[in-house]
Amino acid sequence: MRILVTGGAGFIGSHFAERLLAAGEDVVVLDKLTYAGNESNVPVGAEFLRGDISALEDVEAAGRVDAIVNFAAESHVDRSILGPTEFVRTDVLGALVLVQHAHRNGIRLVHVSTDEVYGDLTAPASEGSPLRPSSPYSASKAGGDLQVLAAVRTFAVDACITRGSNTYGARQFPEKLIPLFVTNALDGEPLPLYGDGRQIRDWLHVDDHCAAIELVLRKGAAGEVYNAGADDERENREVAERIIELTGVDASLLRQVADRPGHDRRYALDSSKLRALGWKPRRRFEEGLAETVAWYRDNRAWWEPLKSGEYRAYYEQQYAQRFNTSRPA
Ligand code: NAD
Ligand code: TYD
Repeated sequence: MRILVTGGAGFIGSHFAERLLAAGEDVVVLDKLTYAGNESNVPVGAEFLRGDISALEDVEAAGRVDAIVNFAAESHVDRSILGPTEFVRTDVLGALVLVQHAHRNGIRLVHVSTDEVYGDLTAPASEGSPLRPSSPYSASKAGGDLQVLAAVRTFAVDACITRGSNTYGARQFPEKLIPLFVTNALDGEPLPLYGDGRQIRDWLHVDDHCAAIELVLRKGAAGEVYNAGADDERENREVAERIIELTGVDASLLRQVADRPGHDRRYALDSSKLRALGWKPRRRFEEGLAETVAWYRDNRAWWEPLKSGEYRAYYEQQYAQRFNTSRPA
């Protein structure tokens, strides 16, 4: 097959493109190269096009494909709090353009979404649980999901949705918890823990997330949503402490800072539907995190240049005041 991987110059999409190439598929990556996209992430062997998923002519430039897997998104909660407009353009309008394109061309769309659309949870969410997004990011992702599901119902488009949990691994942009804390620790910089640090996330290795998406691409039923969680829930504080151990830095680098507004306490997924299709996560967090820390230690040349320019301005805006009023965690 020739598969269009949108957002394939970002974190999960680039791993997915690599996986498809290894499986013998032809891959064309379409990516806008926002601050989070990096052409060097696109694997050798994939065709690369710079373009925007919310512009139909850019999507059409990919030519005839057999399926689309959509990873393109504005993906960081804190940035969505600082400015949500781009999130609506890419995560809602972009999803609509792709599902319309899939409809017109009679091809399959797998739309990659997130556990965050279910909002704060006490019990694990199943695919039928209500959508209660808390942040402008998760509200935009929920909007994209609803456009896809409405197109399935109204136009019988062959589309599926995956909702994965917090993902980690090599090549994740150093704004998310794990790569931010690992690279800060490697630089001897403080680690900003939001609020009491007792929030819980379910950590899924990027290879397991990509395996879930590939299975849905090949075997998912049209109109279905599939949760993919690792059942490996950790408090942020525990993740931070593990990173401190693995990098060998002083525990005093961990600082408690002002919380994220609207911060969800816990995400958790019931993934039995995807497990029934044959998927199961293979990587445990302990081992996956150690490997990820080692990757960032060995690949400074990948992340060091990212931490300048636009990143510095964002970092100042997000953390300067927080560090001024921080205390030992
Ligand atoms: P990322 O921010 O690393 O990558 C996103 C990519 O999309 C970048 O390469 C960026 O340049 C590109 N992009 C942004 N806007 C675009 C546009 N308008 N047109 C074309 N390309 C555009 O994100 P990620 O962490 O790899 O996440 C990929 C997808 O997986 C997202 O849809 C996200 O919501 C979802 N997801 C992520 C996680 C996670 O923990 N990272 C968990 C569950 C689901
Ligand atoms: P993040 O990686 O932004 O993913 P998400 O909010 O989409 O789950 O954050 C993961 C958790 O880590 C979340 O509870 C917020 C917390 N966090 C911090 O405590 N400090 C930080 O600097 C960041 C970026 C996140």
